[in-house]
Amino acid sequence: MKRIIKPLSEWQFSKDKVCWENVLLPHTWNALDGQDGGNDYYRGTCWYKTVLSCPVGDDRKVFIEFDGAAMSAEVYLNGKLLSVHKGGYSTFRVELTGVLTGSDELVVAVDNSDNTTVYPQKADFTFYGGLYRDVNLIEVPSEHFELLRDGTPGIKVTPVVNLEKKTASVTVETWQNADRVEISVSGQTLSVNSIDGHACADFLLENVRLWDGVDDPYLYTATASLESGDSISARFGCRTFYCDPEKGFFLNGRSYPLRGVSRHQDLKGKGNALSKADHEKDISFIREIGANTVRLAHYQHSRYFYDLCDEYGLIVWAEIPYITMHMKDGRENTITQMRELVTQCYNHPSIVAWGLSNEITSASAVNDVLLENHRALNELCHEMDSTRLTVMANVFMLEHESPILEIPDINSYNLYFGWYLGEMSQSDQFFDEYHAKYPERVIGLSEYGADANIAFHSPNPEKGDYTEEFQCMYHEHMLEMIENRPYLWATHVWNLFDFAADGRDEGGKHGENQKGLVTFDRETRKDAFYLYKAAWNRKDSFVHLCGKRFAKRCGYETEIKVYSNLDHVSLFVDDWPAMELKGRKVFTFRIPLTADNGGKHTIRAVSGEFSDEMIITKVSEPEPEYAFNNTSGIVNWFDSDYEPSCFSVYDTLGELKKNTESAAIVNEMMSRGTKSRGDVAEIVKDNPALVRMMDRCTLISLLKQGGAPEEDIKQLNRILQGIHK
Ligand code: GCU
Repeated sequence: MKRIIKPLSEWQFSKDKVCWENVLLPHTWNALDGQDGGNDYYRGTCWYKTVLSCPVGDDRKVFIEFDGAAMSAEVYLNGKLLSVHKGGYSTFRVELTGVLTGSDELVVAVDNSDNTTVYPQKADFTFYGGLYRDVNLIEVPSEHFELLRDGTPGIKVTPVVNLEKKTASVTVETWQNADRVEISVSGQTLSVNSIDGHACADFLLENVRLWDGVDDPYLYTATASLESGDSISARFGCRTFYCDPEKGFFLNGRSYPLRGVSRHQDLKGKGNALSKADHEKDISFIREIGANTVRLAHYQHSRYFYDLCDEYGLIVWAEIPYITMHMKDGRENTITQMRELVTQCYNHPSIVAWGLSNEITSASAVNDVLLENHRALNELCHEMDSTRLTVMANVFMLEHESPILEIPDINSYNLYFGWYLGEMSQSDQFFDEYHAKYPERVIGLSEYGADANIAFHSPNPEKGDYTEEFQCMYHEHMLEMIENRPYLWATHVWNLFDFAADGRDEGGKHGENQKGLVTFDRETRKDAFYLYKAAWNRKDSFVHLCGKRFAKRCGYETEIKVYSNLDHVSLFVDDWPAMELKGRKVFTFRIPLTADNGGKHTIRAVSGEFSDEMIITKVSEPEPEYAFNNTSGIVNWFDSDYEPSCFSVYDTLGELKKNTESAAIVNEMMSRGTKSRGDVAEIVKDNPALVRMMDRCTLISLLKQGGAPEEDIKQLNRILQGIHK
């Protein structure tokens, strides 16, 4: 009997098990409140139920498969708890055989409430709740391929390429409760024994066609079948890759700098309950901008999206949501989520690295517990997958000497100099210092970005004005920085799309992080999108006039900026003689703004057969609509939400000393102070009256008196905020 996979998309949904509504999957209960700001979206347990009418009596086996139940799920059949799954981003399955009666009520309790054991719990994105991906009923013959262990696909394909010989040796492994398995690859078929439920077959591909990134992402298929009729398959790609600390990333023996973007899996109005068409649309933007890599942050994305990356040759950084703050009771969940990610995504040729964590030292000290958790994850990845690299995305405050940087195979940093703090040029210095100090280490740029609201514009853009013009200026600098540092193994713009962070309320938007190069609804490509398209897209020639939305301009002259992947651009203003510029990517003109024609000017940028056009109008005063009055400044998302139930720099020294964890941090800080301030701290130490006086002071007052830099205070606060009172 062949395997039958039946989508279960019609469910009833309830927040209280009293009022039920019909819903279609994929579904999230935070589609709207998770994107409107206020950090007040519904987090709790909700219920989904449906009636199964599976025929019983024959020897078929029945499983239910969930592709995404966020963040935890309890699966009940006729009121009996069958399974619990903790982790909102991976596939898991539950066997129903033997408990089905022919007409059965299936209830799934799904929970996205705040807790201390399941990641993520503290991050700059909305933790949507719901059955937000597909659910399928799977019927297989009694002898079938493995379905339960870590949501396995039942088949694992390991191609090893020999570039000189143009061959690939392909090992196909399967897991099943049968004695023999027939395995085929590229017209070759082998029948092998299954020993202790595991089968293994080796193939040799001559004159192998490589999976060659965006240029030729060729996919082979391995299939496996049992006498019972069950069969499965997996596509795979033959490639080799490595990272050189000086020359960056290499694919199939050639330098292949990874230059691309990051992506969250959500959409305006739909939350994370995306359709295949939504995923396809996102991939089309990544292909249009010309990226050759995508960081799928901060969690396991849908199988279908990894499939699309395989098909279009995009190199992927995959990761688990071990993010921002280490939870002392969360270790097991990091292991489970990583085991499921690697098990389920192993066959995707697009994936080259497993991300262990993201900015985990933002709110956690680099102590033995944190280091051990990372070593355990690093070892797990290497045990499960000897073909890929492990990586970490580090927060910009993490000092270069931190021992945590020595754990993964390679590293990247999230840098926001020029947006959250400091100047853009500090990114250049940051990498030059790191690379000079550690020339043998591979380093990349896992995040960088600046928020822009397409409503805001300025002729004199500056940090924090949320204008498109500043975002362009920022990315022009960063692109230059990147192009001058080929040793960066990979760089990922944060983010390709605006996304939901319900705790944000800035830049004229509620609940959105606006660092995207494309708006949250995918309706508008911001001007900066075209800068990268000019740098990376070698296929589709174009000319893009920036500033179409900056239509009302005052003053006697204005800048007209053109992005293009062609090497010359002519600018026509009304019927004035053309101005022509030769160059690369960015073409900047300055034109007079006259009152002729009522101040209306038609601007055309032309290069060969490609052109773009816009109309701007001279006005007497700056357009008030374009200005964002930034009263709150740029608040880094993890500094805004102060958690009173946790320690902070606003606590007194005495309070902080009462808790072992916070006392350790304060003592370490004080001992550093002793070293750096010598006698003063020594005197305090030995003077009880002074100690008592200091114990009554808040830590922030002492730090400010000591001249501690703002960033150090924020970093210490983040760490203390990770300790519950
Ligand atoms: C961090 C974090 C992101 C976040 C970004 C930002 O680097 O990794 O998840 O969205 O900063 O502040 O925009």
